[in-house]
Amino acid sequence: MYNKEQTQHLQQQTLSFLNDSDEHIEAAPVNLLRQVLRFHEYRYYILNDPLIADAEYDRLYKALEKIEQQQPGLITADSPTQRVSKGLIKDFPKVQHLVPMLSLDNSYNAPDLADFDRKAKELSGLPVIAYCVEPKFDGASISLIYENDLLVRGATRGDGVVGDDITTNIRQIRSVPLSANFSAYGIQQIEIRGEVLMNKDHFKAYNDLLEEKGENRLANPRNAAAGSLRIKDPREVNRRNLEAFLYHISDITLLPGHHASPALETHSGSLKMLWELGFRSPENEKKVLTGIDEVIAYCEAFEKQRDTLPYEIDGMVIKVNEVAVQEKLGMTTHHPRWAIAYKFKARQGTSKLRAVEFQVGRTGAVTPVAKIDPVLVGGVTVGSISLHNEEYIREKNLRIGDHILIERSGDVIPQVVKSFPELRTGEETPILFPVSCPVCGYPLEKPEEEAIWRCNNSNHCPAQIVERIIHFNSKDAMDIRGLGDAIVRKFYTLGYLKDIPGIYHLPYDIIREMEGFGNKSVTNLQLAIEASKKQPLHRLIYALGIRYIGEATAKALAQRVEHLLDFTTLTIEELQETEDVGPKVAESVYQFFHNAENIQMLKQLEDIGLQLKNKKKELHSSNNLSGQTFLFTGTLNQLKRNVAESIVEENGGAILSGVSSKLNYLVVGDDAGSKLEKAKKIATIKIINEEEFLKMVGEPEK
Ligand code: IVH
Repeated sequence: MYNKEQTQHLQQQTLSFLNDSDEHIEAAPVNLLRQVLRFHEYRYYILNDPLIADAEYDRLYKALEKIEQQQPGLITADSPTQRVSKGLIKDFPKVQHLVPMLSLDNSYNAPDLADFDRKAKELSGLPVIAYCVEPKFDGASISLIYENDLLVRGATRGDGVVGDDITTNIRQIRSVPLSANFSAYGIQQIEIRGEVLMNKDHFKAYNDLLEEKGENRLANPRNAAAGSLRIKDPREVNRRNLEAFLYHISDITLLPGHHASPALETHSGSLKMLWELGFRSPENEKKVLTGIDEVIAYCEAFEKQRDTLPYEIDGMVIKVNEVAVQEKLGMTTHHPRWAIAYKFKARQGTSKLRAVEFQVGRTGAVTPVAKIDPVLVGGVTVGSISLHNEEYIREKNLRIGDHILIERSGDVIPQVVKSFPELRTGEETPILFPVSCPVCGYPLEKPEEEAIWRCNNSNHCPAQIVERIIHFNSKDAMDIRGLGDAIVRKFYTLGYLKDIPGIYHLPYDIIREMEGFGNKSVTNLQLAIEASKKQPLHRLIYALGIRYIGEATAKALAQRVEHLLDFTTLTIEELQETEDVGPKVAESVYQFFHNAENIQMLKQLEDIGLQLKNKKKELHSSNNLSGQTFLFTGTLNQLKRNVAESIVEENGGAILSGVSSKLNYLVVGDDAGSKLEKAKKIATIKIINEEEFLKMVGEPEK
């Protein structure tokens, strides 16, 4: 889409914008600004390799928004600002597809594919056939129509002949270009097919959000994508972070006097054309192969990599590459004869629900967990599965003894897809929710508007105490390695560890003698516990396991105080002045800091030597790394890696996960390896050592 020269030119233009004042950017030609923004959308959403920080993109976007607000006459339908749409959608009108959206025939193994190849050769009369093989994306299929280079319609598949017009929602998907230069290929109108997806990370985050809101998790990203396309609030669709792969051209009308481009003679040529026009087509994932053996090998190799992809695929699609040969083979009423799906091993399995146990979490939430006959799903044996809450059980119509279908997809945690009431024998029994805590016997409560029953005996319920200690130690909290789930449970049962401060008073002499512990492991445990005392305040806040407080909110809260106990003086209203803190979260924090036992525990922790003071705030919280990206490699001498990373974030910078052109600084410790080598090849990355890094952030505490 952009060659090297164009890339360099547009990036230079970007930097000159960013080095200028907002007033200057707003005085720039509006088309230039749009060109720059589209270029960065492409880098981000199509190539997944942004050249600027999100905040920098936002600054340019805001400048464009301002120009358009002041001079509405300049707005164009394909302006980057024109995706977002404010009002609600009334309904999705029915629309007819230009060409029916057929399904694909399925195959499951090598002999099935060999059979497909044999028939294709027979029907075409060719001795060998070239195939284009690409992933089978597991999402919701869509059809897009572009007319005179503009996106004019987006529709769902519907029954294959008539679908729903979802144009407004499709415009919210940033990997779908609002305009594309089809006229350069002599094309006046084109219908393109593809798949809308929600990637695994976004799916997991979305499911976590549903759970937090007391709603039910979705079984798979496909349902999440399909459901999202039918939402009537386009801004909500925008927030769902959907993506689209476009993989098939189903209809073309040429401009008068033009001939079809040679690119369209092969399927791989169309994928390339789409890619070059700025679409996310499977250009880099596809392979053109001759002979079915190579096809089979490619499919099998791809299946092995399935888990490493950021999105779900449920197989591969094998397409005859030459369009002329496709036409010769034709189609049945159900599927084309020139293409076939090769389905991967299912990640679904059927089982029987034998019993339900009720587990109590650290916030007292009681979760029903089904014990099922062990079943192998996508290589993992599943023997128990969360049923989340009472509402979920009702919605899925579950009874003890039921046959159920389960799926492990996207967010790895297996989910119940459905039960089979038609297989019931009459022996099945309803799942009864307990009225009192299954661990401590305290009566359970459920506020009207929530889905979850809770044990509110928080400081005395053994289950909650143990879960809170486990959370306190966890990697993203105080990061005490060597004190995981099983050990915490064991120490609790033996009476060696009865609350959080108890972590700092473990009877090491006794533990050293226990089976499975040696001198070395006890010393390591002691060191890890000692090191945890130095963890910054935001980690401690997160570690306390206050309801609704995730890592991000903990960071925002930590910024509010000089000392953790200052929270005892803040009102619910004052707490709500914190970023992302609404009434519910504020109430929860307020309650926590107005509970005498909690305060006593915090004072104990301070006496033990934990950091209740906000040292970062005094020493080096600033915005002086704003928009800068960092990556640490090798062993640092003075700072722990996670401390160094949080210093970057607290100074407004961001941590990247790998070396790429987006990286500004690689901070190199001892024994740095391949990351350093890679960074040396990218001229724009500054390579610095730990001392230089400390100078940049103003020598924080070590
Ligand atoms: S081609 C006429 N290619 O799978 C051929 N379909 O089970 C049209 N799908 O309805 C389909 N990835 O929604 C094609 N790379 C891919 C695909 C793909 C996913 C979906 C599509 C289709 C369904 C058939």
